[in-house]
Amino acid sequence: MRIDIITIFPDYFAPLDLSLIGKARTSGLLDVRLHDLRSWTHDRHNTVDDTPYGGGPGMVMKPEPWGEALDAVTGNAPSVPRLILPTPSGAPFTQADASRLAREPWLVFACGRYEGIDSRVAADAAERMPVEEVSIGDYVLNGGESATLVMVEAVSRLLPGVLGNAESVAQDSFAPGAMDNLVEGPVYTKPAVWRDREVPPVLLSGDHGAVDRWRRDEALRKTARNRPDLLRRLTSEDLDQHDRQV
Ligand code: ADE
Repeated sequence: MRIDIITIFPDYFAPLDLSLIGKARTSGLLDVRLHDLRSWTHDRHNTVDDTPYGGGPGMVMKPEPWGEALDAVTGNAPSVPRLILPTPSGAPFTQADASRLAREPWLVFACGRYEGIDSRVAADAAERMPVEEVSIGDYVLNGGESATLVMVEAVSRLLPGVLGNAESVAQDSFAPGAMDNLVEGPVYTKPAVWRDREVPPVLLSGDHGAVDRWRRDEALRKTARNRPDLLRRLTSEDLDQHDRQV
């Protein structure tokens, strides 16, 4: 997969050299290209922002550098990418979006700062490529950079070969399948007793059926405790007789 990131802070993306994503990049599974928006400015101060029409606080990113940047990054290619615009006013980013985007060959992230990017940039780009405004949560960040890091990580860990163990993706909280709409329950490793606290005995029993049942019960309890909104979304078909007693 190819991912282009346009930003005024390319250094923000140093973490993409690390760990599994760093390895995926060196092995060629993931081709991440960083672009400094200021290289498409033409004034002495490399200006990327200006005051908002209509008044109000803050600054808005100017359309010209963004237009040129998107033309340069996407223009001469034989295919078109999907353009992602991180913004707190976007549609909520979920695991389903991560899976969907992981099937795309090419993504471009345009990281806005300040009060956002002049809206004509998205409208203009949408004439040539699919464009999505996406929010990673109901809070306001200083710019799209950290949101892009989050989305790039959520997407690239789903690419075949990026994680060592494909099973662990299938069992994640929010993964599609049996535990859909439940968060993962507690996990344990050795030693079996630590500071007088024992690992739940069922996990040492070797009874895989009992372990599965226990994991589902714990996932239900944790979902009820931390995410009552998710529990309410479960249908009666999602719950078996035993679940109802938990
Ligand atoms: N930019 C600023 N806040 C954001 C958020 N919550 N999600 C995506 N991009 C953002």
